[in-house]
Amino acid sequence: MTKITIHPGEHEDPKPWRGALAPRAYAPSNAAHKSLNGEWKFAFEHTAARSAATFEFEKSEFADGDWDTISVPSTWVLQDGKYGWPAYQNIRYPFPIDPPFVPTENPTGLYRLQFDLPSDWPSAGKTILRFDGIESWAKVWLNDIELGTTSGSRLPTEFDAPVQAHNTLAVQVHQWSAATYVEDQDQWWLPGIFRDVTLIHRPSKAVQDYFVHADYDHSNGSGKLMVECTPSGTVRVPELQIQIPTGEPLHIPEVEPWSAEIPRLYEAELDTGADGEIIPFKIGFRSVKIEDAQLKVNGRRILFRGANRHEFHPEKGRTLDLETMRQDIVLMKKHNLNAVRCSHYPPHPAFLSLCDEYGLWVIDEGDYETHGFENVKWKGSPAVEDMWTETLVNRTERMFERDKNHPSVIIWSLGNEAGFGPNIGRMAEAIRKRDSRPIHYERDLIGQYVDIYSRMYATQELCEKIGKVEETAEDEIEWMGHMLFSKEQLNDKELDAKRRAMPFIQCEYGHAMGNGGGLSEYQDVFHKYPRTQGGFIWEWIDHGILQRTEDGREYYAYGGDFGEEIHDGNFVCDGLLFPNRKPSPSLIEYKKVIAPVAITGKDGELSILNRHDFADTSALEFAWRLENDGNLVEEGTLDVPPIKAGETGTVSLPNKQADGETVFTISARLKEETSWAEAGHEIAWGQISVDTVPPAAPVEETVAPEVHDGTIVLGPAHIRLQDGQLTQLGSQRVTWAKLDVWRAPTDNDVCFEKQWRAAGFDRMKHRTDSIEVTETSVVVSTRVAAWDTGRALRTDYTYTSDGKSLHVIVNVTPEGEFPAPLPRLGFLLGLPKTLEHVGWFGMGPGEAYPDSHKAQRLGAFESSIDDWQTPYVYPQENGNRAGVRRATLSGPEGGLTIAGEPFNLGVKRWTSVELAAAKHTIDLVPGHNVWVNIDHALNGLGTAACGPPPQKQFLLNAHKTKFAFALTPKDK
Ligand code: GAL
Repeated sequence: MTKITIHPGEHEDPKPWRGALAPRAYAPSNAAHKSLNGEWKFAFEHTAARSAATFEFEKSEFADGDWDTISVPSTWVLQDGKYGWPAYQNIRYPFPIDPPFVPTENPTGLYRLQFDLPSDWPSAGKTILRFDGIESWAKVWLNDIELGTTSGSRLPTEFDAPVQAHNTLAVQVHQWSAATYVEDQDQWWLPGIFRDVTLIHRPSKAVQDYFVHADYDHSNGSGKLMVECTPSGTVRVPELQIQIPTGEPLHIPEVEPWSAEIPRLYEAELDTGADGEIIPFKIGFRSVKIEDAQLKVNGRRILFRGANRHEFHPEKGRTLDLETMRQDIVLMKKHNLNAVRCSHYPPHPAFLSLCDEYGLWVIDEGDYETHGFENVKWKGSPAVEDMWTETLVNRTERMFERDKNHPSVIIWSLGNEAGFGPNIGRMAEAIRKRDSRPIHYERDLIGQYVDIYSRMYATQELCEKIGKVEETAEDEIEWMGHMLFSKEQLNDKELDAKRRAMPFIQCEYGHAMGNGGGLSEYQDVFHKYPRTQGGFIWEWIDHGILQRTEDGREYYAYGGDFGEEIHDGNFVCDGLLFPNRKPSPSLIEYKKVIAPVAITGKDGELSILNRHDFADTSALEFAWRLENDGNLVEEGTLDVPPIKAGETGTVSLPNKQADGETVFTISARLKEETSWAEAGHEIAWGQISVDTVPPAAPVEETVAPEVHDGTIVLGPAHIRLQDGQLTQLGSQRVTWAKLDVWRAPTDNDVCFEKQWRAAGFDRMKHRTDSIEVTETSVVVSTRVAAWDTGRALRTDYTYTSDGKSLHVIVNVTPEGEFPAPLPRLGFLLGLPKTLEHVGWFGMGPGEAYPDSHKAQRLGAFESSIDDWQTPYVYPQENGNRAGVRRATLSGPEGGLTIAGEPFNLGVKRWTSVELAAAKHTIDLVPGHNVWVNIDHALNGLGTAACGPPPQKQFLLNAHKTKFAFALTPKDK
């Protein structure tokens, strides 16, 4: 009888690895190295239950001639479906929860590479093999010798590699392993060797590890340098004329400090002499300290204007090339971000070097999340069970040791959403015994093991409470406290006092899923209370995967599009960038909200508040522009003496007068090109109105309505006598002209959508009660209500005309109880599809909603109707332009001007019902009309997809309302 044991397999062992070398700092050096990236042989199996006896692929002589090839690095699920597809779940585990075991059905990749050693590869010393990232478990053989096993997907592993002239490398990778239990981050599952593979020579005196300590003393501007190294060697910093032995501290009387704003680095090298190696590295002198419940760098409180960044590329998954990493950083810098949280794992090591160079504060985070244990009430939580201690501490150490020499890393985060227990303490301890940088872990709400009080998605109100140090145990309980802590822990006086002495950050907030709002209200709190030190938007980029229809149209796929049995839909698309790295409106809004310079003013006097933490304003020039009704009158530059960080300067504006609506726009721009932006790049701006003239009443004279053949003719308008419907404006056919309350729910409207649909806001019917034709007007009285509901909006339309324009007054009176705010309140026009273009004077150029409009300025703008639409990956309400005074829609068959008191304008080629029904951008097909929303008001957006709903002041509660506008057709 033969019995083959399938379960448990080696990959179900919770131990982190076997045979790997001790972790060390990432250190490209002058030692010989060879990248093994490229085309590898590849075979795929659906199961991990492979009998080694029948399939010895790891052997050098194994015939892999008919195997496929795959690029390394990459993920095997983004190879056109040849080896399965990506899968997306947020919290839920993709298999039964039975730690540390995983299913037999376990996608497995077999990788083989034959390579020759370069002829000049040194014969002395030894060679190691480095993997920068494999998801999730691998076993490695070189020339028939098993090197070992590894897990820790986003962490490096090095093995001793007994190389010869010709080599065969074989790697077996399982998608699921015990390690998967501690890698339950909210993202696509993307198995495979997805980061670099490198062969590295180690001369006999190679650096086993080195640790750069470079402190800055802000009280006197001096620095202290000490480089620990095994074996010992020499450190050279040519710019400072320094040459010192490792292990010896050196006091440097004067250095320039490193900060995210002024990322001053000194080039250095570490040399271990003959038979050793030279490691070039960069030194950033800085200090990180917690003092007075504030996190201070170089002696000053800093404010995080950050984002959470997953590594993501719409075609390559988590395999990012250097240019894409650089693009992320350049985009962050250009949009005023100064910080990044590496959610929820250490990024490719090159990313951190770029953060040092360009200047970003970094929270480096361990590759650790176990969110799905929530579904079993944290029973068997790895944070608690001893079985997991080794792997968790190993993960912390591998992050720390790899990344310790980056000046940009100022906080260590142990992981994300992994419950609470003694293993969290052990991980913290692993760092504390090596380093003094503060430790973060959001779920340690009681502050037992961490140095920073961190929350996610707290409301603006709660942030304010925390700013005042008035948070209570109830606030903790309401969040995750009830699940993770005992009453005693929550009420422990000592811990409570310890936490109150901690700075506060929101490690995640402003959930950037779809169309959202509420950011500036957070920023106001961060500016007001020193303890609230800003936060990190969730998240940087939408993880939409690029797909093409059969006829070649592109769209982005999300959870469920690849046939996953369980998935979390488009919750994976919640970034400030669209998947193609184009900024979404939320990034534009964020840029303005976090601008490091605030420009305000009145009565000809300008106040410039420099909100930088370190830099003065000398890198900026201040340009002004005077516009009248959107037309440029004059422009120039202001003479602004440098303003120090945290201070305000005042300057007089040129004395100008003009008729009409006149505004100064002051723009703070880069004087010179930087590594991340061109000269002239705008950092901040402000508008100051000189003279606001209310828009003229649209129609004064009136013509009399005339009735012909069932039609009321009123100036350019035709109104149907039968039901009071506007059917014609000049030569433009009007197919619809009625009150509108519906919008295609945004991702963040989840908090209202059910109530909205139950109330029938998506299917309001219009009953005409009377049409009154007077000598000067036509008054159409209607009742707007949904089937099977009692509530209504009594709506009267009063039409008058001066012969050229149609003046519309809409009076709305709610009848009955309204269970939720209205999505919108306005007038909807169905116009011919020949319209193509919109020009407007109002706020622009981008979309704006009640709680998301800071980035828009008053001016004259133009857009095609197609470009007007914001391509949210999951279609939803978008594109509203606010504060519009006048807009002209035009096309080859003529057009129409809309004018009036500042109104909201929406223009699209589909109805809100069609928009709401679409699942992907390609579902939106232009119809026979252009639909124009002239809105009196819209409901706020909030971030309820994962966070608070809109604040009270942004809710559009039904109330008696009157609004007016004028429509002027223009024939072709
Ligand atoms: C947080 C979590 C993130 C992400 C986000 C929602 O709770 O830390 O990983 O899931 O919610 O998009």
